[in-house]
Amino acid sequence: MRGLLIGLGVIAGAVVLASGASRTVGAAVDEASQPEFYATKVQPILQANCARCHGGMNHRGGLNMDTRAGLLKGGHDGAVIVPGDPDKSLLVRLMRHEGPADDPMPMPPPPRAKVSDAEIDLVARWVRAGAVMPADVAKP
Ligand code: HEC
Repeated sequence: MRGLLIGLGVIAGAVVLASGASRTVGAAVDEASQPEFYATKVQPILQANCARCHGGMNHRGGLNMDTRAGLLKGGHDGAVIVPGDPDKSLLVRLMRHEGPADDPMPMPPPPRAKVSDAEIDLVARWVRAGAVMPADVAKP
């Protein structure tokens, strides 16, 4: 009897572990569409490299990046993100140095260093997943 109970316990434990694992895999697929992804991965990159010119009171090029509305309104050339399509998003293109050489120029502007490819990929992943920001989910 004791052996049977231990056996059942082992099976129950295995089921719990297996369902826990599948939940983790499911969450990983959508990680970039969670507001935490912006807060923990994307926002620090923009804060370090862009905020002094596009955050708070700063609107260089007409662009303020503090809110999603600001990104969708964009700057002198219109929206700088196309949610779902980083390759069409001016913000990503300028960070990759894929845009024009001037007007608008690569970002951050020379002589500032290009952001690392790994960090640009995080920003691109976030745009591809819908460019979700924490304030968006707070709304009803
Ligand atoms: C030193 C100040 C400075 C920093 C830092 C900076 N920018 Fe800019 N940004 C500008 C200026 C000035 C313009 C306008 C340039 C122009 O029109 O040629 C601009 C324009 C832009 C535009 C185009 C807006 C439009 O509609 O034409 C985008 C997108 C942009 N910046 C994104 C970024 C990103 C992303 C970062 C950080 C990786 C960044 N910028 C960092 C000064 C800065």
